[in-house]
Amino acid sequence: MNFEYLKQEIDYEINKLFCGKQGLNKIIYDSMNYSLSMGGKRIRPILFLYTYSLFKDNYKDLIPFACYIEMIHTYSLIHDDLPCMDNDMLRRGNLTNHIKFSEAIALLAGDGLLTEALKNMIEYSIKNGINALYATFIIAKSVDCDGMVGGQVVDIITKGRNLDEKTLNYINKSKTAALIKGCVLAGAYMAEANDEDIMKLSKYGHYIGMIFQIIDDILDKTADSSTLGKTANSDEHNNKFTYVDLYGIDECKRICEDLNSKALNVLASLDKDVTNLVEFTKYMLNRNF
Ligand code: IPE
Ligand code: IPE
Ligand code: MG
Ligand code: MG
Ligand code: MG
Repeated sequence: MNFEYLKQEIDYEINKLFCGKQGLNKIIYDSMNYSLSMGGKRIRPILFLYTYSLFKDNYKDLIPFACYIEMIHTYSLIHDDLPCMDNDMLRRGNLTNHIKFSEAIALLAGDGLLTEALKNMIEYSIKNGINALYATFIIAKSVDCDGMVGGQVVDIITKGRNLDEKTLNYINKSKTAALIKGCVLAGAYMAEANDEDIMKLSKYGHYIGMIFQIIDDILDKTADSSTLGKTANSDEHNNKFTYVDLYGIDECKRICEDLNSKALNVLASLDKDVTNLVEFTKYMLNRNF
């Protein structure tokens, strides 16, 4: 189950999602498909599958569910890029959805992806039982108004201000770490993990989720647009005060290394084969886009 192989399996499944759709509303499928299929690292569905695989062998049966998680993430990106949010033109190496399709269609594509994903998760749960329903609830909760949406709200209403550590932690924890932790927990609930493992994995998910946003903030200031596939320096351009502004790059890297050790310690405390997740955790720290 290496990362690249799983990514290919996920991409294959994603390409089938809205295949052959016709009709007066066809543009909504084209627009959702555009953002979904033009790339993306797929770290959330892969993290979900890796966590599930700590406990069970049949990860292939879970690939559709993993893709529904990616649909929710993609909705958040389309809305994040809108002119009323970060006003970005480049995403996943291509024009953002609203530039390609118009603002109204991009807004609706986000709505569509979220609704279709939750509908598909509920249908999956009806067919597969209570564990899938728990996983669905965990994912929905991670993007609710105390989760991803709440983080995006505080990110937007604090624009242009210097922020303290408490506010920045709220933003990073909610807008980004919540869904990443949600993917870990959804995998664990789906596999019927015991309470002790769930508690440990909850901490693990939080640590790597925080690393993910701090690295995103560092890369925004240090990498170029073609490497990132999105517009570099977007934060400064939007007067967004991030971890890097509060601590500087070196201290941010130290904070990430500290979170990384904590995450690896949690994995070591599980009585499971954690090889894939250890590799994944290192990748979260060392990625360059
Ligand atoms: C970008 O997420 C948004 C953040 C939460 C920082 P990713 O860096 O995972 O974006 P894709 O899915 O690879 O495009
Ligand atoms: C957005 O954070 C997190 C989301 C919930 C989409 P950013 O605004 O920093 O993400 P990028 O840098 O545009 O991908
Ligand atoms: Mg943003
Ligand atoms: Mg953004
Ligand atoms: Mg960013």
